[in-house]
Amino acid sequence: MPRHFLTGAELSAAELLALLDRAAELKAAPLRSRALAGRSVALIFEKHSTRTRISFEVGIQELGGHAVVLRSGEMQIARGEAIRDTALVLSRQVAAVGWRTGPDEGLRELARYASIPVFNMLSELHHPCQALADLLTVREVCGSLDGLRIAYVGDGNNVARSLAVLGTLAGMHVAVASPPGYSLEQDLALPPEASGTLTLCEDAREAVAGAQAVCTDVWVSMGQEGDADRVGALSPYRLDDALLDAAAPDAFALHCLPAHPGQEITAEVLYGQRQRIWEQAENRRHAQKALLELLLSGGEPYAAPVDSAAGASA
Ligand code: CP
Ligand code: NVA
Repeated sequence: MPRHFLTGAELSAAELLALLDRAAELKAAPLRSRALAGRSVALIFEKHSTRTRISFEVGIQELGGHAVVLRSGEMQIARGEAIRDTALVLSRQVAAVGWRTGPDEGLRELARYASIPVFNMLSELHHPCQALADLLTVREVCGSLDGLRIAYVGDGNNVARSLAVLGTLAGMHVAVASPPGYSLEQDLALPPEASGTLTLCEDAREAVAGAQAVCTDVWVSMGQEGDADRVGALSPYRLDDALLDAAAPDAFALHCLPAHPGQEITAEVLYGQRQRIWEQAENRRHAQKALLELLLSGGEPYAAPVDSAAGASA
């Protein structure tokens, strides 16, 4: 049975920490691993991307492999070919497949029928590859993640959900502040081995109290452009210097990007000395290379088969 990475809850805590160790090694020596020598990985994009595409494409090349980038609008899937049939065909051509898509059901269906690893390059509910880079970045600054406090301020979206899933698995205390109607679900399923905690609140200053890192993301995610109320509801949740002042001493800002300076983050923070955002963007590549090594190394999945509801319910 192939290993998949759809929500992050498929990893054990030990695997997550080992993956971050390996990512740091690969960052120090980017060409050390030839784990994908002679192999191809399909990357299917149904939505826009800058960082995810470039970091996977370059990372796969650094691992000795070849990335096949596909726009789903140009595939037969856009004309009604079944996800099942797509999975069966891809499984006979490439070593693994990543998909940036909308509803998580499609991703789970691809994984159900694929005999190769399937990884989530962003879906409606999850962005676990982003969270790997977030954790790698925090660990570079703070050392161990265990017991650390991290805050997320803004829309309770895919990025926030993945930070909650993987942050708590790494032992962190994750606090998420969002306005009513834009919060993560209270009953979000955390991984069985999560030793950290998740706190949801409305007050941004409450969430950042004691936090070493303060994260945010766009107020309008891809596909949500029609919700006219979002910007108004989220406007008190801007990541600015005053909010960083309310966090732990030397707290730093993170943002998965793309950013909208003046909306969810100020230009002063985005381009200033109190952020690790650009390092975080680079870390996508290192973290994902370690992920690909893990997924392609075989072995049984630790938990959460692809049909499990763990971390997948809205
Ligand atoms: N953070 C992120 O996933 O960026 P892209 O949308 O540019 O891939
Ligand atoms: N929440 C954002 C993340 C973009 C990387 C979106 O889904 O559009």
